[in-house]
Amino acid sequence: MSFDRKFHPLIEHKLTILRNKTTSTKESRELVIEISMLLAYEATRYLPLETVEIETPITLTKAYMIKGKKLSVVPILRAGLIMAEGILSLVPSARVGHIGLYRDPNTLKPVPYYCKLPNDIKDRDVFVVDPMLATGGSADAAIDILKKEGCKNIIFISLIAAPEGRDFVVSRHPDVNFFVASIDERLNDQGYIVPGLGDAGDRLFGTK
Ligand code: PRP
Ligand code: URA
Repeated sequence: MSFDRKFHPLIEHKLTILRNKTTSTKESRELVIEISMLLAYEATRYLPLETVEIETPITLTKAYMIKGKKLSVVPILRAGLIMAEGILSLVPSARVGHIGLYRDPNTLKPVPYYCKLPNDIKDRDVFVVDPMLATGGSADAAIDILKKEGCKNIIFISLIAAPEGRDFVVSRHPDVNFFVASIDERLNDQGYIVPGLGDAGDRLFGTK
């Protein structure tokens, strides 16, 4: 379990600019891509290495490469799409799946509307990405879908969580590794994270 990690100061700095309500759509997207790269750097730190033999212009030598690990990135639509861009810039050969969920504004329950995953997803380490983990309903539903497909090593990467959502997903999925940049204070009556950053999808796509 990993909600209490201490991350790089650049993540805090960029997250603060992102939270600011005057930050533009363009800059918000750029920040989410940069923060996602930094979080992915932390989340991939534990990938195993293997020794390979290569020839430099000077000599034959043994060196290290990531051991044949197959990765998949699965953004939760919509806001996860921008995070996926940042992660793919570090692991460009990862396969990409998509899970479409939206929160019903009255019940706050996730409503699934789309799912397309790589055929061999069960053989891959899966990085699920969504900037906001509020009630935790969307994260829980996405992880359930992936477990039903047979995925065993699931890593969830997010920018901001509410304590309520954190406690919910940890109780439901103690086997999942969570990398979340900030645990905020609470949820408000509309299910928004306080202080949070508002509606991530609307801010990143300029739909409000
Ligand atoms: C947001 C966010 C998460 C979800 C989190 O998406 O990107 O997917 O809410 O809330 P939860 O933890 O209470 O489930 P939203 O449903 O607004 O969809 P959108 O990205 O299409 O705007
Ligand atoms: N979804 C968001 O985009 N923001 C929140 O604060 C909660 C759910």
